[in-house]
Amino acid sequence: MTTAQLAINGGTPVFQGASANSFAPEWPPSFPEIEEKLLEVYRSHQWGGCKKFEQQLMVDYAAWQGAKYSVFMANGTVTLECALLALGVGPGDEVIVPGVSWMATAQAPLYVGAKTVMVDIDPDTMCIDPARIEEAITSRTKAIIPVHLFSSVADMDKIKAIAKKHGLFIVEDCAHAHGARQHGVGVGSLGDIGSFSFQSSKLMTAGEGGCCTTNDEKYADYLFRASHIGGSRLFPGVKPPMGLMCHQYRLTDFQAAIILGQLAHQDEMKQKRLTQFHRLEKLLSKTPGIMLQKSTFQDDERAFYFACFLLKPEQLKADADRATIQKALEAEGVFLNIGWGYPIYDMPMWNISPETYEKKETPVCEDTIYRRQLVCTGNILLADNDVIDKFAEAIDKVMRYYSAH
Ligand SMILES: Cc1ncc(COP(=O)(O)O)c(C=O)c1O
Repeated sequence: MTTAQLAINGGTPVFQGASANSFAPEWPPSFPEIEEKLLEVYRSHQWGGCKKFEQQLMVDYAAWQGAKYSVFMANGTVTLECALLALGVGPGDEVIVPGVSWMATAQAPLYVGAKTVMVDIDPDTMCIDPARIEEAITSRTKAIIPVHLFSSVADMDKIKAIAKKHGLFIVEDCAHAHGARQHGVGVGSLGDIGSFSFQSSKLMTAGEGGCCTTNDEKYADYLFRASHIGGSRLFPGVKPPMGLMCHQYRLTDFQAAIILGQLAHQDEMKQKRLTQFHRLEKLLSKTPGIMLQKSTFQDDERAFYFACFLLKPEQLKADADRATIQKALEAEGVFLNIGWGYPIYDMPMWNISPETYEKKETPVCEDTIYRRQLVCTGNILLADNDVIDKFAEAIDKVMRYYSAH
């Protein structure tokens, strides 16, 4: 690794002519066989209403993810809402969520009339801190929504133990974690219900889309009914439960055809991201001032929606803040961004009445989001070895320059 002069100070950039990010495959990826599937849907005149491809997808996605059932919906926001409905969460209940996630995680309890309680995250994995969950539990707590954020899987051993001790439900927000596993079990099956997003940036996408997974037939039926105007796939002809207000949150068969087509490529892409992550991790193992987002357990099979870096400000020169490092990296041809830029409760669009939610002390959320986090989309980990090597070289070069020692 080099200690050459930084490009921002007039030195030669590590990437010349094109940035590292431009060597990552285009996202979302396109596959020729999906075009044929789309044409087939178009010509079938069966465009919506749980037709051929969605029916196949429900079976295949559940099997791939290691769940008994999957129910596809319009997006990964309504899946969270339907998951809480299926578990009977409603007015008077409290739901514990991490302070760092997309707003949908924290809004889902509010949609069903419950109160959202936001707690702090773990500084290394960035997932909800189980110790903070336990502190936030009251007699009204009904559920926990851990988020498997960016590339890490939350500590489901501890979260499950807490849920069992206090009689709570778990909805896993797996919007970033298609194909991820903990101790060999697919995310979305570690708790009661899993929620996935297929929005444009996600590891699997149809532009928009969502899915719930579960191993419980009762929840699977409820989830399908709640999102498909009351109809049942598992018990056709049987009326929905009394009082269920059923939504129309269906997918089209165009979306199902795209997601089904992508499924065939997931294992290969996941493996490549994992291999390149390990390469990057090894190359940066002696680099000061920065670390990669950590996994909870060594055997976690991570999916890498994002490659996420965390600065270690205590190892950096006093004037080396995140923006300075970002600019220096950019000059070397490496674009890392700050992600959402805010914890949920500070997001400009989070204009929610303070009586309807509670925020506990969250110093780690603030430190991580405002000072430490730098991310790029996981497709950088689909780039070839020479790109990953230079990517690491650029990071090492910049971090050594700004290192305090
Ligand atoms: C962690 C998390 N949960 C839920 C969602 C909501 O998914 P969707 O955009 O499909 O509604 C997102 C979307 O980005 C997300 O990042």
